[in-house]
Amino acid sequence: MKDVVATVKSNKIIAENVYMMTLTISENVGEIHGGQFVNLATGGGEHLLRRPLGVMKVEGNDISVCYQLKGEGTKKLSEAQEGQKLKILLPLGNGFPLEGKKKIAVIGGGVGIFPLIATIREHCADKEFYSYMGFRTKSAVCLLDELEKSRSLTVVTDDGSFGEKGNAVEAYLKDAAKLGADCIIACGPPVMLKVLKQKLNERANKIPCFVSLEERMGCGIGACLVCVCKKQNGENARVCKDGPVFKINEVNL
Ligand SMILES: Cc1cc2nc3c(=O)[nH]c(=O)nc-3n(C[C@H](O)[C@H](O)[C@H](O)COP(=O)(O)OP(=O)(O)OC[C@H]3O[C@@H](n4cnc5c(N)ncnc54)[C@H](O)[C@@H]3O)c2cc1C
Ligand code: FES
Repeated sequence: MKDVVATVKSNKIIAENVYMMTLTISENVGEIHGGQFVNLATGGGEHLLRRPLGVMKVEGNDISVCYQLKGEGTKKLSEAQEGQKLKILLPLGNGFPLEGKKKIAVIGGGVGIFPLIATIREHCADKEFYSYMGFRTKSAVCLLDELEKSRSLTVVTDDGSFGEKGNAVEAYLKDAAKLGADCIIACGPPVMLKVLKQKLNERANKIPCFVSLEERMGCGIGACLVCVCKKQNGENARVCKDGPVFKINEVNL
């Protein structure tokens, strides 16, 4: 993990209220795995904490993150200009553990698709990915070209304005038996992960399932305990350091 200064290469809108920022990092920061994240300064001065964002793509010295406009921090980020310098701490947290897995079902919702894209890009040479991606509506759909490395891609929207009407969990469950995946990875809004956990447990699912969680964060490195979540055994876990990827039944959702 390193704290470095990156240069904004591009910062453009890719869907309604969603931006993609590509940053060039000249220092060697080591390997970055899909599911890991960065803590990025917003350019809004030191009073704004850095914001955690999942890595979407790594290409040579360039790292791309995508972010949805939410509040002050992401608004400030959206104003960053090409050539601007931003401090970035990376790589943080754990990636998706896919050793020994071959056929992976990928379930993403909204901005949760970004770390999943990085994971598919990293492993598509020797693993098969079957992606189920859900968006609110057509204007939120983005980065489908980045998902082309999936063996199959199902896109659904809540209102049916793009792809079938429905959500990504339902879409996967419809295919689950014939797909026969040996692993599931998922990232999306808390309600999506909660429903996924409930449905998998109802079906006595035996396939390992890993989810990436979001929590409010401070330091991003395990020191401040802002990001603590409850584990099913009653213990606490730091999402930044012990996660953000957890086994679905390890954590309370
Ligand atoms: C590991 C991780 C990866 C993430 N990856 C992405 C991503 O790839 N794309 C994306 O759009 N969003 C991602 N998020 C959520 C993103 O960090 C928040 O949307 C963002 O910090 C909001 O900042 P803001 O100042 O615009 O919003 P405000 O609501 O003004 O933020 C106020 C404070 O709350 C924190 N906060 C608000 N919402 C969240 C949230 N959902 N998760 C964590 N902290 C939050 C902010 O960091 C800030 O400290 C990720 C969060 C985590 C923890
Ligand atoms: S954000 Fe500080 S411990 Fe996780």
